[in-house]
Amino acid sequence: MSVRRSVVAGWGGYLPRRVVTNEELARRVDTSDAWIVERTGIRERRLAEDGELTSDLAVHAAREALRVAGMAPDQIDLVIVATTTPDETFPATATKVQHGLGMTRGAAFDIQAVCAGFVFALATADNFIRAGQANGALVIGAETFSRILDWADRGTCVLFGDGAGAVVLRAEPGDGTNRDRGVLSTHLHSDGRHHDLLYVDGGVSSTGRSGHVRMAGREVFRHAVANLSAVLNEALAANGFVADDIDWLVPHQANRRILDATLRKLALPERKLVSTVDHHANTSAASIPLALAEAASDGRIQRGHLVMIEAIGGGLSWGASAIRW
Ligand code: ACO
Repeated sequence: MSVRRSVVAGWGGYLPRRVVTNEELARRVDTSDAWIVERTGIRERRLAEDGELTSDLAVHAAREALRVAGMAPDQIDLVIVATTTPDETFPATATKVQHGLGMTRGAAFDIQAVCAGFVFALATADNFIRAGQANGALVIGAETFSRILDWADRGTCVLFGDGAGAVVLRAEPGDGTNRDRGVLSTHLHSDGRHHDLLYVDGGVSSTGRSGHVRMAGREVFRHAVANLSAVLNEALAANGFVADDIDWLVPHQANRRILDATLRKLALPERKLVSTVDHHANTSAASIPLALAEAASDGRIQRGHLVMIEAIGGGLSWGASAIRW
């Protein structure tokens, strides 16, 4: 049966120039390089400069993804930006990105699912393409998460970084089997009962201030390990795959210990894991497209490979996708 598939035609990442090491953070709060590395695997992160906005990072990543795809901005009819740190309360950061790319046609909007945002955005774009409502889509995860951190809270400020990543999806025909190239399936979940485990203590309608990240780390860790392996198994089963079929696992990069626990639960060897958490830290919605761009650019991920992505974040919201590169 002929179907419309969303094939990953291009990828790009962008990191702000400023590198902040664990040692530098240890001069600001009561922490140490040894504690951060042992508990999280993070060694450094990038932070945006004053005046460097989420949309600026997103435009850089999007331009690179278009270059790799060999496509012009006017071949794109959908721009989705997954972000928790928009430039402004409105309009959507995606419209600033659209303008920054010189586009005047198509639709542009933001998606908010925190660290799971890229998976939610990819699912949305894939459904637009499957339905015939778009032929070319830019799916971007972009964050200046540093702006919502409480720099006096050592339990959270050491975990995050800024950055952006993007993929270009292009409609191509497939035969409807799991050998097709493109996004094979997407699987999304939310459970708002767990709001208080990870949230920002502010917002337009509540306090009128943007607020800071608050997190019950141990509880989030427990939910992450259980839900991520479950949703990965759901995505494998939906396509008739087993874990052994995976070429690359590209998880949301929250914490090395969560990545290792997910590998163990799926009995996957470490060589199949793309991990950037040591040098990017947790860049929220940007972490998966940044990791995809890194591994596709250095030749690890190749055409035809089965790539599984997964993420969980505040909400709680989580999801996974199976992609034939
Ligand atoms: N440096 C030194 N000590 C610290 C730091 C720090 N940066 N942060 C916390 N501590 C202390 C705590 O105060 C506590 O001290 P106490 O025993 O005297 O009270 C001690 O370390 C242990 O604290 P825990 O929070 O229990 O430490 P834990 O081993 O759980 O590690 C961590 C904390 C790394 C946050 C872990 O819980 C975790 O990774 N959770 C997952 C959360 C996550 O990744 N969130 C990202 C957003 S959600 C997502 O993307 C999935």
